[in-house]
Amino acid sequence: MTEYNVAVIIGSLAKESINRKLFGALTKLTAGTDLTFTEVPIKALPLYSYDYDADYPEVATALKDGISGADAVLIVTPEYNRSMPGALKNALDWASRPWGTNSFDGKPAAVIGTSIGAIGTALAQRDVRHVLSFLNASTLNQPEVYLQTTPDLINEDGEITNEGTVEFLTGWLAAFQAHIEKTLG
Ligand code: FNR
Repeated sequence: MTEYNVAVIIGSLAKESINRKLFGALTKLTAGTDLTFTEVPIKALPLYSYDYDADYPEVATALKDGISGADAVLIVTPEYNRSMPGALKNALDWASRPWGTNSFDGKPAAVIGTSIGAIGTALAQRDVRHVLSFLNASTLNQPEVYLQTTPDLINEDGEITNEGTVEFLTGWLAAFQAHIEKTLG
């Protein structure tokens, strides 16, 4: 049985992030899969400038290594003002450079997210997919996950309370694993 190591980028820097909670709940659901999730932190990254290209800071090299060394990448994103948070776009820019060392090249990827709004991060995910496409990642297209957070969606043990949502996310994880297997050949 092959284990797939998945580098996870969480687009929110907030301590009580609902997307961080979703990541926790999703991690519990990987128990029956061959996926292992490892977060690659983005909070300490400075704002990207190509002035750094000649001497990348350690925190950015760690981000690139975390992605390059993984079999696949998962992005868990909130929606801020109908797009992805600036912190996430900054991380994608760091990982894409210096020129010729794009860490996403050929990587199987997936995007998921939750918001308090009814469209459940659809527009943020659209923008993340757009960037991942340019960076030549191979992003899972279907099924999509647009999850609206309600106060009782995730309980105090970090588990999703709604059976239908558990079933849907379990199916989504299986689709992501199949996508990784297919992409890596
Ligand atoms: C939001 N929120 C939000 N929600 C949404 O569905 N669409 C949107 O465009 C926005 N825009 C937005 C902008 C900014 C600056 C903030 C802080 C929030 C609400 C958002 O869904 C909610 O705050 C979530 O808790 C954000 O996810 P994290 O950061 O808690 O993971």
